[in-house]
Amino acid sequence: MEFTQGSKTVLVGTGTVGSSYAYALLNQGLCDELVLVDLNEKRAKGEVMDLNHGVLYAPSTVKIKLGTYEDCKDAAVVVICAGVAQKPGETRLDLVSKNMKIFKAIVENIMESGFNGIFLVATNPVDILAHATWKFSGLPKERVIGSGTILDSARFRYLLGQEFGVTPTSVHGYIIGEHGDSELAIWSSANISGNPIAQRLTKERRNEIYIHVRDAAYEIIEAKGATYYGIAMGLVRITKAILKNEEVVLPVGTLLDGEYGYDDVFIGVPTVINRKGAVEIIELSLDEEEKERLGNSVESLKKIQGLFW
Ligand code: 2OP
Repeated sequence: MEFTQGSKTVLVGTGTVGSSYAYALLNQGLCDELVLVDLNEKRAKGEVMDLNHGVLYAPSTVKIKLGTYEDCKDAAVVVICAGVAQKPGETRLDLVSKNMKIFKAIVENIMESGFNGIFLVATNPVDILAHATWKFSGLPKERVIGSGTILDSARFRYLLGQEFGVTPTSVHGYIIGEHGDSELAIWSSANISGNPIAQRLTKERRNEIYIHVRDAAYEIIEAKGATYYGIAMGLVRITKAILKNEEVVLPVGTLLDGEYGYDDVFIGVPTVINRKGAVEIIELSLDEEEKERLGNSVESLKKIQGLFW
């Protein structure tokens, strides 16, 4: 199957995450055409107008318009940010039934358009919904990417950067697993310029940093009602990796197919991203505790998934 060419990107869902994504994408000059789709057409129209008024000052010109699922036909990437959002005190998994129904309709509509590109899923619970998108679409696994632990890993690298007085790009390390309560920090390979981090922190401090990463969303939601800038930047990073055929390794939600000893589950792990999608999982070597925690994370996702498939 030939791939859709070009850089046309369709955004489904123009709530806080979707509109922040559109804004970040516009600012990075990555695509020539951006189409916004939302059940709430009035809101989407407002976003289109507002974004278009910034095009003059963007790094390159972008055609931004209001569209329908039909527009997915020749899109390189469709980003789904639609769905009900997490309320204060609610876990990402609490949202699952509501958003599963919404996704069935959205993905079927997109596939009916003749879509032949790559899905990028951001709606929570993202691992469950990326798996559902893969199932509903019938596309090969590499063509469906979840945001996975892209944001959690950014939070981790930010906090470690603060701890050691270096910028996050100089900290190397991953959060893997569910984007949610069962995620885990891979301390065994976290490093600054090859210098291992784990030995430089007490077990208590490591745990504090992990908890800070894991619970960051709860804290932000409590403070301002929603999280959107961090995830939007992460989604743009993944979009760039696809559109520029980067072959960069990013911690995204992808289908395990024997890797780490598991299958049939979408979960956040370091994966090579290029124009064809999530093409290869780069398996980290995990210590015993990390293996056990990853197993628990897989299990907690499979429990939810089992309610639907
Ligand atoms: C986040 O981690 C709520 O999943 C969202 O910010």
